Amino acid sequence: MKTSIIVLLLLFPVVTSQADWREQGSPSDQLANLVELVPGTSHWMFEIGERYKNLYWAAKQGRWEFAQYQVEEIEKLIKVVQLARPKRAETAQEFLETGVPIINDGVASKKWDLFKPAFAKLNQACMTCHGKNDHAFITLPVEPASASSPVLNLPD
Ligand code: HEC
Repeated sequence: MKTSIIVLLLLFPVVTSQADWREQGSPSDQLANLVELVPGTSHWMFEIGERYKNLYWAAKQGRWEFAQYQVEEIEKLIKVVQLARPKRAETAQEFLETGVPIINDGVASKKWDLFKPAFAKLNQACMTCHGKNDHAFITLPVEPASASSPVLNLPD
């Protein structure tokens, strides 16, 4: 008797748990939940921050193709931010039109001496957008001390 009560109590939360909206929800509820789940700026910025460091170290190692790849991925992620958070779209566009061409030229030069000032200007373009979006306190180093990609094989 006692055991069956315990079993019932254990089952209770399962029986009364909410229906899974992904399968049982109405299409409009499903859509609303999916919109709610779209990751925001900070999520995408986290990856941009990693790629920023990888870009610097790829150039430093003379791995220009990998550096170019990082720039392309950063550009794509900024476009994702534009879509995910329309209030950032205008300032993101400014970045795409100013910061991206400068760093593209820096990488295309395949010369560290030309890349370095271009990277400093990229940093400024990132910071300009942070400032315009009330996040001026988020600053990034012009000479990142490390990079996370295993491709670059740097110590932790
Ligand atoms: C559209 C404007 C914009 C541009 C362009 C931009 N950022 Fe950001 N970034 C933001 C905002 C806004 C935040 C704060 C996140 C939030 O409010 O959700 C942020 C946050 C960050 C963070 C902190 C993430 C965290 O949560 O730890 C990093 C790192 C970052 N940005 C790196 C960069 C780098 C590197 C660039 C340039 C390659 C860049 N950002 C370009 C708007 C921008």
